[in-house]
Amino acid sequence: MTDWRAKEAKYFMHPGKRMDLLAVRGEGTHIWDEDGRDYLDFFGGPATISLGHSHPVIVNALIDQAKQLIHVSNSFYSIPQLKLAELLIENSCFDRVYFMNSGAEADEGALKLARKWGKEKKNGAFEIICADNAFHGRTLQMITAGGTERYKAPFGPLPEGFLHVPFNDVAAVKRVTNDKTVAIFMEPIQGEGGINVADDDYFPQLRAWCDEQNILLILDEVQTGCGRTGKLFAYEHYGIEPDIMALGKGIGGGVPLSAFLAKEHAAVFTPGDHGSTYGGEPLTTRVGYEVMNYIIKNDIPAKVQANGATVKRRLDSLLDRCGIVTDVRGMGLMWAIQFSSDIGEKITNAALAAGLIVNNVRPNAVRLAPPLTITDEELEQGLAILEHVIEESSVAAPSK
Ligand SMILES: Cc1ncc(COP(=O)(O)O)c(C=O)c1O
Repeated sequence: MTDWRAKEAKYFMHPGKRMDLLAVRGEGTHIWDEDGRDYLDFFGGPATISLGHSHPVIVNALIDQAKQLIHVSNSFYSIPQLKLAELLIENSCFDRVYFMNSGAEADEGALKLARKWGKEKKNGAFEIICADNAFHGRTLQMITAGGTERYKAPFGPLPEGFLHVPFNDVAAVKRVTNDKTVAIFMEPIQGEGGINVADDDYFPQLRAWCDEQNILLILDEVQTGCGRTGKLFAYEHYGIEPDIMALGKGIGGGVPLSAFLAKEHAAVFTPGDHGSTYGGEPLTTRVGYEVMNYIIKNDIPAKVQANGATVKRRLDSLLDRCGIVTDVRGMGLMWAIQFSSDIGEKITNAALAAGLIVNNVRPNAVRLAPPLTITDEELEQGLAILEHVIEESSVAAPSK
């Protein structure tokens, strides 16, 4: 039998730590390894496999579109791109959209828009206020906007114009705002930072501050968008409308597609300002259209909200009875369980051995981001495995 792990060690650039699972097939919430062992996937991409693995809607869209037209330059019109554009604009607060391929690129486009807006409409203002612990991707500009020092340290000098403040601290934003500030750029719920949920009044207050100061509010909904939090877009929870939003991950359900959307006043690109060979090509936007259409038509956000209530109830009870669980946080189908020590990897490995894939998003926390289409039975099954693993670890180390 081929030793694929040895090939990785020989040929691959250091990839970061992988879990000990060679995935060969997926269907719905399930993944199978090379030995045919079946796992429940509560990792989900993370937060990317919105409709589950190989959903027929995606498979059929790929086959049908591949037979018609896979790629055509953005120098031409193409129907899937325009259908997806219409669907996104008609179901959001935005007026215009631009398609890219990855979350980092969508964020990059959003910040380019803001920089141009600052040049044209705010005396060249260019500074962006970001949050500690944020994650926006791995391009040079996005590691600079992000809040993790070790992602930036080897790569300086970094682009200028990024300021950081603690998440959920409006006063800190106000303190650093100045004449050069062009935008506030944040995730509604910090995903890679460990599922840190904004206080109810945080974004309303930031919105009011942006209006008062003539600053753009840019939300990175790469992880929270497309139904993940129990609304189509997470900004809806807060009763506010951002000026610009980035989408990625779940919009393509596993194919590389992302987008940034803007209100008319912020949509300042003119021909020549931006571009992408693959961004918005027929194959990926056809899938994006079918994924978003499925999410909207079947009111998946309502199902996610109901499932989120189940997850909350079950995880809250863990908090009550397991000494090692110190916090549970999340919304919809995006949750983290925090432990009293750095046992995230141990819990993740024990869950894997028991047939459940979760993600140790932080050394002391595990994240759940299963497909939005997970069945009630699969949800119960996965949570039961996780509870058992955590209870066993709690008996071994009963501390708080
Ligand atoms: C909030 C957020 N923004 C941006 C990104 C980057 O997306 P990508 O890896 O597709 O570039 C991620 C990825 O985890 C993310 O969670």
